[in-house]
Amino acid sequence: MLLSGRGSNLQALLDAGAASWRVALAVSNVAGAAGLARAEAAGVPVRTLPHGDFAGRAAFEEALDAALRAADIELVVLAGFMRVLGPDFVARWRDRSVNIHPSLLPAFRGLDTHRRALEAGVGWHGCTVHFVRAELDAGPIVVQAAVPVRPDDTVEALAARVLAREHDVLPLAVGWIAEGRVKVENERVVAVDPGDPAVNPSQ
Ligand code: GAR
Repeated sequence: MLLSGRGSNLQALLDAGAASWRVALAVSNVAGAAGLARAEAAGVPVRTLPHGDFAGRAAFEEALDAALRAADIELVVLAGFMRVLGPDFVARWRDRSVNIHPSLLPAFRGLDTHRRALEAGVGWHGCTVHFVRAELDAGPIVVQAAVPVRPDDTVEALAARVLAREHDVLPLAVGWIAEGRVKVENERVVAVDPGDPAVNPSQ
């Protein structure tokens, strides 16, 4: 789990729990990120890798990759991780890393999504869990949740409505991936046939 701040999505994963997966490590590029305290409180090992302490992006990402491999991480979850990851790191973790983004991608990539959604006058906004690609906030979409935009919405009210749905869909997506229920095919996420003996040997 990679985070930079509050860690409410980490908390949603910790609260959801499941037989098929667990949060094995929380890494932050920001010292003192609130999310690290949430992980510690749940007994999850934490690492802080302040990106400014490294000679450059490559050195930072080497250390990040080493920390993930040392912990035998199978799926990297980016939740509020506010650093762009370079193509080498992304390639190493291809189809083994997902990001949660607070918009209905491909709308509103980047920052400040709720304000931009209000300014655009969209009727629906939401969140997306997608596999990570080198292009920012792009990649095969695992799941999205939409919320209505209300005429009297503020950025804060809309953000809170979206965040509540983030906390639903992130555990859902992690569960699907952990259980082999989805796969990437031609850069689209498709459901795996539950009758496929490769997935369900009892079939
Ligand atoms: C979440 O809304 C997440 O979607 C967003 O940051 C917030 C982190 O909240 N991510 C991005 O904007 C990434 N571009 P959290 O720390 O409470 O999970």
